Amino acid sequence: MPIENAATAELIKALPKAELHLHIEGSLEPELMMALAAKHQVTLPYATIDDVRRAYNFDNLQSFLDLYYLGASVLRDEDDFYRLMWDYLCKCKEDKVVHAEIMFDPQTHTERGIGFEVFMSGFMRAIAQAEKEWGQSTLLIMSFLRHLSEESAFETLEAAQPYLSMITAVGLDSSELGNPPQKFARVFAKAKSLGLLRVAHAGEEGPVEYIWSALNDLDVHRIDHGVRSVDDPALMQTLAQKQMPLTVCPLSNIKLCVFSHMREHNILSLLDSGLLVTVNADDPSYFGGYLNDNYHALAAHLPITQEQIKTLAANSFKASFLAQDKKALWLAQVAAL
Ligand code: ADE
Ligand code: ZN
Repeated sequence: MPIENAATAELIKALPKAELHLHIEGSLEPELMMALAAKHQVTLPYATIDDVRRAYNFDNLQSFLDLYYLGASVLRDEDDFYRLMWDYLCKCKEDKVVHAEIMFDPQTHTERGIGFEVFMSGFMRAIAQAEKEWGQSTLLIMSFLRHLSEESAFETLEAAQPYLSMITAVGLDSSELGNPPQKFARVFAKAKSLGLLRVAHAGEEGPVEYIWSALNDLDVHRIDHGVRSVDDPALMQTLAQKQMPLTVCPLSNIKLCVFSHMREHNILSLLDSGLLVTVNADDPSYFGGYLNDNYHALAAHLPITQEQIKTLAANSFKASFLAQDKKALWLAQVAAL
């Protein structure tokens, strides 16, 4: 097994990176979860922070989502959402994530009676502060929960109307199997007509047909995960030819048993096939690490070269929603290392 060397560790630290697949609710650390539960007198089935961490053993996506929604139930007021976003942005600074495209799940909160004004003002306060303090670049992606109805997604899009200037794209997440992208074709068409860009989780646990559907029915700019693409050579060819980005999340894939071990992960074969692959953390608090931890895990278990690490960092900017001039600036910095 290749062991990460000091030069590789230095490179990972020094590279500017963009993060394109990060659920803000999945960055809720157990310490903050317990503190907010106490603040709002929410009863959780855990007595200690260690109990929370011990519960983070998942068999599949659904077993994780059950805990993720339970954890999110402690988020109640503007300050909670500020703190959640602020803590993640501080991690960005630490990991040299100079640009982050951050997903949030409105329905996780609106279903509990918490309105857009509460979470959006908390998020925007943290985002403005990080931009002012160290120039953090951030965009927001509003994700629909695919286990809920098309009608609920339409209501969410409607409720988001006053906030559209703060939202760059829509996404699709939650329980993949049984909830194919085409279920949301009309919602995504409406989002497109409102000027929103589009991403969707597909091919994490679901079959390649869901990836085709995300491309053809949702007209997405990126596929979140997409690791099952290898099951279909014609799809691989299409993804490579379109340079359709895949936002791959290595630690997430191991924690959710998509691959049995990091040495089994297919990220290098996706890369070798000419796909625009990026590395991301997904739900870092639940999956054991933030963005740089994902790079380190690849370096520790796969025969990845420093050139490939640089390619992954460069891809993160190429696949981002940044303007071309900003992309060019960051790409030049990556190339200079
Ligand atoms: N919501 C948060 N993380 C997710 C993931 N990895 N897949 C689907 N939905 C999610
Ligand atoms: Zn995700």
